[in-house]
Amino acid sequence: MSEEHRDEKPEDKREELKLPVDREPVLRVIPMPRDINVAGDVFGGWIMAQVDLAGSVPAAEHAQGRIVTVAVNSFLFKQPVAMGDLCSFYARVDKVGRTSMRVFVEVYAQRRLRPKEVVKVTEAYITYVAVDEHRQPRPVPPLA
Ligand SMILES: CC(C)(COP(=O)(O)OP(=O)(O)OC[C@H]1O[C@@H](n2cnc3c(N)ncnc32)[C@H](O)[C@@H]1OP(=O)(O)O)[C@@H](O)C(=O)NCCC(=O)NCCS
Repeated sequence: MSEEHRDEKPEDKREELKLPVDREPVLRVIPMPRDINVAGDVFGGWIMAQVDLAGSVPAAEHAQGRIVTVAVNSFLFKQPVAMGDLCSFYARVDKVGRTSMRVFVEVYAQRRLRPKEVVKVTEAYITYVAVDEHRQPRPVPPLA
């Protein structure tokens, strides 16, 4: 089997993906016509903005205060998102430094006319830094 087809499964043998049941999404949102690119899919920049917002939720909770985004460490678009898909964003702090927190964000889409069909569309690691009132880095607690 060729490299590019190794991970593909026939339609009827594909395992049915479900939304995670052990955690709550930090954000759920539906892309609208203004979020579409020229190819008819959702614009990648729209997803990146939502991922940044979603990742900031656990980071701000952990830091107990003001944070800023310092880096997008990795970003993977696994499947396209279409207008009207219900997108659920799951995020957790996975690594903590002295002032920085790396957050893992996973995004699932439920197709507009087939809500039982769940697709994992994006995975990303984003790093945030806790800052004080002068925008200077401040220490954060260790991971529990
Ligand atoms: C984030 C910011 C406060 C860091 O200030 P700084 O003087 O560079 O601070 P430091 O060099 O001490 O770095 C702070 C932390 O960020 C981490 N960091 C810096 N650059 C990083 C990168 N490219 N990737 C991952 N972590 C990074 C450092 O490792 C450090 O983490 P630690 O304390 O856990 O070890 C400053 O760069 C800033 O204000 N950037 C703009 C943020 C912003 O406006 N974001 C929104 C963009 S529109």
